[in-house]
Amino acid sequence: MSAALAELKDRLPEGSIVTDPALMESYRTDRAMFCEAGVPLVVVRARSTAEVSATMEVASKHGVPVVPQGARSGLSGAANAIDGCIVISLEAMDEVVRIDTANRYVVTQPGVFNAVLARAVAAEGLFYPPDPSSKEFCTIGGNLATNSGGLCCVKYGVTTDYVLGLEVVLASGEVVRTGRTTVKGVAGYDLARLFVGSEGTLGIITEATLRLRSAAQRPKTLAATFASAGDAAQAVTSVVTSTIVPSLLEFMDRTSVRAVNETFKLGFDDDVEAVILAQSDAGGTAGEAEIAEISAILSSAGAIEVVVAESDQEADALLAARREVLTAWETMGTTMIDDVCVPRDRLADLVAGIEQIAADNAVMIGVVGHAGDGNFHPTVVFDGQDADECKRAHRAFDEVMHLGLDLGGTITGEHGIGLLKTELLQAEIGDLSLRLHRDIKAALDPAGILNPGKVF
Ligand code: LAC
Ligand code: ZN
Repeated sequence: MSAALAELKDRLPEGSIVTDPALMESYRTDRAMFCEAGVPLVVVRARSTAEVSATMEVASKHGVPVVPQGARSGLSGAANAIDGCIVISLEAMDEVVRIDTANRYVVTQPGVFNAVLARAVAAEGLFYPPDPSSKEFCTIGGNLATNSGGLCCVKYGVTTDYVLGLEVVLASGEVVRTGRTTVKGVAGYDLARLFVGSEGTLGIITEATLRLRSAAQRPKTLAATFASAGDAAQAVTSVVTSTIVPSLLEFMDRTSVRAVNETFKLGFDDDVEAVILAQSDAGGTAGEAEIAEISAILSSAGAIEVVVAESDQEADALLAARREVLTAWETMGTTMIDDVCVPRDRLADLVAGIEQIAADNAVMIGVVGHAGDGNFHPTVVFDGQDADECKRAHRAFDEVMHLGLDLGGTITGEHGIGLLKTELLQAEIGDLSLRLHRDIKAALDPAGILNPGKVF
């Protein structure tokens, strides 16, 4: 047995350590396809900050790489194991610690599922907006590590906008508490947000203090159909350049609609080329007025039909279908999901460029996404057993990222770099910024044991 493993067994309770190869197998990968995954030395299912800290002390002493993991629902390979590493799973740290209704924040452990946290605060009349499609099976810790977005971002922003403070275990095993519980606070650098989106490369988040809003009104929902994806994209640009801020503005192309139309009994016609879903949570007559105005904008931008959901069930089915698109594609073939985000007046150019890339490479690319943010998930769905198709799929995937950059956007709006996109990080951020990344990494993790090889 390695010295590191022996020491971990010495310092941690038996129940926190997994070394059975069959059990460790499921901890090797997240949800991304085509990313390398090693075989861990051990999986630590940490149950407290003290256990994470002890693990990091051992890792640091023996120079063993550590891969922090939430629920492995990530889409970039950031949580994939490395040969001989210690995987630290935070899933068992799954308590909502405290909800402070007067000061509108929640203190939570990282292993709490996003939707569980949202429901816990909703029971107190409060609202935690960030809502990735995977909200029922992704953890807050993973959301923090990738700075997740979701469907609400068009109005409410992303995970980092809700971070007040964090407790983080450093590479050395030391525990830092950073941030605040007050509404304002500018003492020192904003270290808490430095850890947000760092994909496990700078520290391990063991507790978070997250800002809450007062409960939103039940939203009103509309669905608009279009005869071309380009018209729909242009219509989104019209909505976001108006004075209205919808609480949701999503796009589904023909491939997305067909993937979920039947299962969710949506009843869209087969010749529909794109659907826009929009919501207003302004409430009462204000909400109705907003929905009417969005409807008018979409109609004059060329919608074939705009339908306002008549019941909450109908609205819920539309949204559930939208959230299931990726899962539906996963049953149709191998998937490579992209995550480009472009300026919102370039959406039609993005859609046209994706259509060209699909044609050039003779692959199917479905497009679904958070149109109101300019954030699309063009997804290559292909036969993973066919070597030539795999090659073309990879080429199309890369071309979509370059297209995003050429349009003044980013290669990842919310899924992160992980292993999947490391090669293009430099193209997006440039040499100087990359050097700063390395300097920051070296300052916090001088031996380079935290999630090495991820991000850059
Ligand atoms: C979604 C995930 C894939 O938007 O980000 O469905
Ligand atoms: Zn998304």
